[in-house]
Amino acid sequence: MPLLEVRNLTKSFGTGTQHRRAVSDVSFDLYKGETLALVGESGAGKSTTGRLALRLIEPDSGTVVFDGTDVLAMNSGALRGFRRNAQMIFQDPFSSLNPRMKIWKSVAEPLVVHSIGTRGEHRDRVAALLDSVGLSSHLIDRYPTGLSGGQLQRAAIARALSTDPSLIVCDEPVSALDVSVQAQVINLLLDIQSERKVSYLFITHDLALVETFAHNVAVMKSGEIVEKSSVADLFAHPREEYTRTLLSAIPDLPAREVTPA
Ligand SMILES: Nc1ncnc2c1ncn2[C@@H]1O[C@H](COP(=O)(O)OP(=O)(O)O)[C@@H](O)[C@H]1O
Ligand SMILES: [Mg+2]
Repeated sequence: MPLLEVRNLTKSFGTGTQHRRAVSDVSFDLYKGETLALVGESGAGKSTTGRLALRLIEPDSGTVVFDGTDVLAMNSGALRGFRRNAQMIFQDPFSSLNPRMKIWKSVAEPLVVHSIGTRGEHRDRVAALLDSVGLSSHLIDRYPTGLSGGQLQRAAIARALSTDPSLIVCDEPVSALDVSVQAQVINLLLDIQSERKVSYLFITHDLALVETFAHNVAVMKSGEIVEKSSVADLFAHPREEYTRTLLSAIPDLPAREVTPA
């Protein structure tokens, strides 16, 4: 049974002449401990699909089933449990961490929201979480401006891990980082997956990252999935002209030297 089953999701924004279908009839399965990459150019509907999968926005139609349960039918109590199990990491760690909060307060936020542990335990839990993402615990009392982009994204990953989720939607998690830092963060995500068996819905416009990072890939264009296959098959035999165009645009980045888990 897949951990996440998405079926026929459709979502439009705007009315009248502004009406636009952002996501159209999107279906996919994501299995436990695996990564499904959602690739496509800017505006293809990737982020909207990720937000729909976590029910951060409501679809016009379609279904999302998580661990056998219909997410769109969940009441507020069940939805809280789902939110604990399904976290998200965003592209820009500068805007996803509150600039007025010390790092440890931001990382501890989900612990507070989900009543995990006592308040007195949170600092120690955060120190352990920071350690698990390769951050020194002496950063615990810093503000976001005192950290580099790569360190901030590690803190955002620590926050996502704080509730021990089984699914993390990663929306372009390394696109805002220096190329030299991208591979380090990708390797961290791979290590986390092999240790915790977490599933990733990994959103990226960069097919170069997909080859070593993902198990399966869905290619999106204009709101639709145009091609879906294992990563090995996609790179060996891309079926769609659009996919071949994306593949041919891959530069020889250091990110390609990422080692598999
Ligand atoms: N909240 C919104 N309001 C209006 N249009 C939106 C909103 N979110 C996304 N869109 C539109 O939906 C389309 C898909 O956007 P998005 O899912 O962000 O694509 P991607 O992540 O692949 O770049 C784009 O045309 C975008 O402008
Ligand atoms: Mg996006």
